[in-house]
Formats: sequence, C-alpha cells, structure tokens
Amino acid sequence: MAPSSSPTLRTTSEADEEKYANVKWEELGFALTPTDYMYVAKCRQGESFSQGKILPYGDISISPCSPILNYGQGLFEGLKAYRTEDDRVMIFRPDQNALRMQAGAERLCMTSPSLELFVDAVKQTVLANKKWVPPPGKGTLYIRPLLIGSGDTLGVAPAPENTFLIYASPVGDYHKVSSGLDLKVDHKHHRAHSGGTGGVKSCTNYSPVVKSLFEAKSSGFSDILFLDAATSRNIEELSACNIFIVKGNIVSTPPTSGTILPGVTRKSISELARDIGYQVQERDVSVDELLEAEEVFCTGTAVVVTAVETVTFHDKKVKYRTGEAALSRKLRSMLTNIQMGIVEDKKGWMVEI
Ligand code: COI
Repeated sequence: MAPSSSPTLRTTSEADEEKYANVKWEELGFALTPTDYMYVAKCRQGESFSQGKILPYGDISISPCSPILNYGQGLFEGLKAYRTEDDRVMIFRPDQNALRMQAGAERLCMTSPSLELFVDAVKQTVLANKKWVPPPGKGTLYIRPLLIGSGDTLGVAPAPENTFLIYASPVGDYHKVSSGLDLKVDHKHHRAHSGGTGGVKSCTNYSPVVKSLFEAKSSGFSDILFLDAATSRNIEELSACNIFIVKGNIVSTPPTSGTILPGVTRKSISELARDIGYQVQERDVSVDELLEAEEVFCTGTAVVVTAVETVTFHDKKVKYRTGEAALSRKLRSMLTNIQMGIVEDKKGWMVEI
C-alpha cells in the first residue's frame, strides 16, 4: 500500500520526549543533572581566545601541575536560560557575566574570552542542551562558565594556557525554605578583605566559606552572613549571594568597593526597586542597622531574590517581614516575569538563543 500523504498523528507525550530530556522537573533542586554537551576553548598565554568546540559533557584532562589545581587560579560565572510559554529560550544579561569575567581575569592575570565570544559560547552551549531547559515555570537551565589556568606552572606565575569551559544543568530552587532564610552572622571568619579578590568571581572565594556554612547548617541555619574584615561592624554578603535591607522607602546594600561581588541580580534588582519608587543606597550597612531593618533579602543568580526571615547575631535573633507584603516578593516577581517572558522586557535584558 502506498504511504499515506497525510501527516503522521503523534501524541503530545511523543513530541515531548523529543523536546525534553527525561527529567523529573518537579524534583529539581540545586544539584548537578549532567546534560549532553559542554563548550571548551583553550588559549596559550599571549594569544587570544578563538572559537572553541561543543564536546560531549564529561571529565576533562588537566595537568597535575596546572595553576587551577595548585594555586586556585580560576574564575567562574553563573547565569540562567529560561523557556517561555511560547517556547522561546532566553538567557539573562550574558553580557554582564562576560564583563565580570573580564574584570576577574585582569585581576588574576588571565586571558579572558571577548564579550562576543563569551555570549556566543553560552548560546551554543544552551542550544546544544536545549532539551534540558525545563518547561516554563518548572525550573531553569543553570549555565556555568569557567575560566581556569591550565598547562603546567610549578612556580607561582600566570598560567601558560587558559581554558574556557561552559557546562549546564537544569536546576530548581537553591534554598528549600517556606517563608525565608534563617541567617547566622559569622563573627569569627571573614570572606574577603580590602585589596583581595572578594570583588571578582574567583574560585578561591568559595571554599573558605564552606566551614562556616557547614557549621551554621548543622545548627539549623540556612546560610551565613559575613562581616567586613577591617571593622567587623558592617555586613558584606552571604556564602554565595548579595544582601539588601529595607527600612521605609530606603533599600540599602553594601557597596561594590572591592570586597563585595558585583552581582548581576543585585544590579538588576536595584534598578527594579528604583523603578517602583524606592531609594536604593549602595553604602556601608552596619550590623546594628541590619538588626533594626523591617525586611532583609538576598539576591543572586542561584537564589534569585530570597527573603530572609531571621538573623541571629551572637545570642540576639531578629525576625523580619516576609510573604505577600514583602518588597522582596514583589521584586522577585518583577524580575522573574521579565526572565520568563511573562511581561515585556523593556530593558533589553533578555537574549534569545
Ligand atoms: C550564582 O548565583 O550563580 C552563584 O555564583 C552561586 C553559586 C556559588 C552557587
């Protein structure tokens, strides 16, 4: 019999099987779900990056004598891809991550990819892993660009080679909390100091906070808040995100003067808060002010905008406004509505792949 010329009828689930990877989207937290492909480019010292390759996701080979393994010479970024209701895949402000990687590379004496190459590489990585971008509202594809010192350097020196690598993983919420985070102020350790690397996304900023974080979590806290190393009087940031306090019409966050990571979400939320009439101040914020604030929230690519419910400093515990009435709730939905294509992106933040 001659084949029918009418199109084959397919069920939605067959179509979905091709469109989506086999993931239980509802169960996603912030843990690695390996995807199919990663992007890799290498560049010798003194040269500039040229187009890399999309390779199957997997282990990489690196010299035991590489600067990343021996001296922690490396930077990372974090950004997300979103699937909209009309099935477009969008990424949020990738130019900002490219520029931040360039600033970090300058600080660590590394060669960074150009802004164009960075954005193109992110797009290629997302496109290659498109079926891992969760359905609308069921999570996001977290994209992790790395710039690492590869090659061999026994002495402390700039890396003879830099590797730019991007992998991705579908993720859900970073913190599983109902109304807000329970923070503990760390009065023993500091995350950054003046003249150090706190203001760039150096890999070395993160492992030193693990001990404090682990201890705090073991005592039932959600995260840890660091104080400035010079005076121990002002708040800085959490283990992996920025912090804001709210009092009346004023929203305040510590300034990015070297020890605070210039978060892309931090910058975007400041802009959105100004748009709805809040005064946003980037300035030193003392622990005393934190304890007197009406509301506290944190921002970051991974945490998005997350309310803080309590802060504990020594034996004092303060509770803050959370829920429907909280500014953080409003700002979070303003941001995620833009990211998910629910409201028009008038700011030109979203990039379609
Ligand atoms: C991000 O929000 O992208 C971060 O860098 C947090 C990460 C350390 C989990």
